Amino acid sequence: ETGLITLDIGLKNTGATKSKITYLDGNLGQLYYRGYPIEQIAEKSTFTEVMYLLLKSELPTEEQLNKFENDIKKNSLVSEEMKYILKGFPRSAHPMGVLSTLTSALTAFNPHAVNVKSEIDLYNASTLLLGKFPVLCAWTYRLKLGLPLNYSDNSLDYPHNFYQMMFKIPTDKFETDEVIVDAINKLLILHADHEQNCSASTVRMVGSAHTGLFASISAGVSALWGPLHGGANQAVIEMLEMIKDDGGDLQKWVDKAKSKDDSFRLMGFGHRIYRNFDPRAKVIKKVADNVFEKLGIHDETLEIAKKLENVALNDPYFVEKKLYPNVDFYSGIIYRALGIPTEMFTVMFALGRLPGWISQWKEMRLNGEPINRPRQIYVGNHKRDYISISERK
Ligand code: SDX
Repeated sequence: ETGLITLDIGLKNTGATKSKITYLDGNLGQLYYRGYPIEQIAEKSTFTEVMYLLLKSELPTEEQLNKFENDIKKNSLVSEEMKYILKGFPRSAHPMGVLSTLTSALTAFNPHAVNVKSEIDLYNASTLLLGKFPVLCAWTYRLKLGLPLNYSDNSLDYPHNFYQMMFKIPTDKFETDEVIVDAINKLLILHADHEQNCSASTVRMVGSAHTGLFASISAGVSALWGPLHGGANQAVIEMLEMIKDDGGDLQKWVDKAKSKDDSFRLMGFGHRIYRNFDPRAKVIKKVADNVFEKLGIHDETLEIAKKLENVALNDPYFVEKKLYPNVDFYSGIIYRALGIPTEMFTVMFALGRLPGWISQWKEMRLNGEPINRPRQIYVGNHKRDYISISERK
């Protein structure tokens, strides 16, 4: 402590802003969207209704919800020229890198929606992004497989529409199971916001310079890509597959995660805020059991995950460090059961988190917050004079 600045590397205990959007209690494992407990919201609400709640602070009336839904659907066509950007990528490109680029490119194709001054400007930019983002998400998948790009089907609700854009083959009639649509609805709700996490803080940081909404969200997509953040859902499946291929000795891998001489961590475990269960992980585990039972799927990785959770939760190291499964631990297992490929797991996280990012950005702008500019503790060289190159050793 220098008396000037308290060092808080990683912003572990910094109140960066005041917010009314999401409340977390890490010790009690509580998560509320605008005051509503996540367990009730996940059980009773729809993702579109949750988008409205996060953006407008209140649950919508039927009339408000219908107008909101229509305002989003009106924006579900993406400029055809954006396909040239998409097709400029190799099929090997990670979908999150493609999504971040396409999201930023929305600025060029929608200049009218960039400079927001009023609440109505913000609403229009928000519904434009909410309409186009799921199309871009689905296109990143279609690119990888070299499949024709689907368009939004505005007769469908949000999760169903997204799923058809992901998997519809133009020559065939598209049908899907309500169990799948319900699971996607719940997963999107569970990921919708999480106060000042790394990617939301990134969106606020970039937006505090009065950068446009699309470029700010693009930065959030990049932050979420990291394996310590949203990329963990992909890393969990890769870890479970590795453990399975290695013979399934769970204690061996739990011990490896504890050793300091190794960078291996149990992906999907631990959280900066939750020193108790992540309430979302509990709901996701129930969704997983329901999906597997109703679709009649047996996935060995789900069994390994449950056993691994049990070994870790009874291990003194994990108990002492308060490391519990987080939202990413089970989500990838369900995405895979829904037919979503591993590289698309973090895109699913981004699709869910979009209304949260927009709400955080909107709150920061409407509050007139200043440009974010943290300080530092300087620990480098003291003042010294320049040395000409002939005198350097
Ligand atoms: C998300 O912030 C959010 O809200 C994020 C999120 C959201 O909705 O936006 O909830 C989504 O990002 C969930 C987290 C997904 N990431 C992972 O599952 C990756 C694995 N988890 C860890 O890397 C870690 O737990 C973090 C990144 C989640 C949290 O890191 P912290 O708070 O900086 O904790 P830390 O790295 O300081 O660890 C504290 C101790 C360390 O040991 P010591 O140095 O004190 O001896 O716990 C250990 C760590 O080594 N530890 C782990 C561990 N996580 C922390 N040891 C083994 N396995 C782990 N997973």
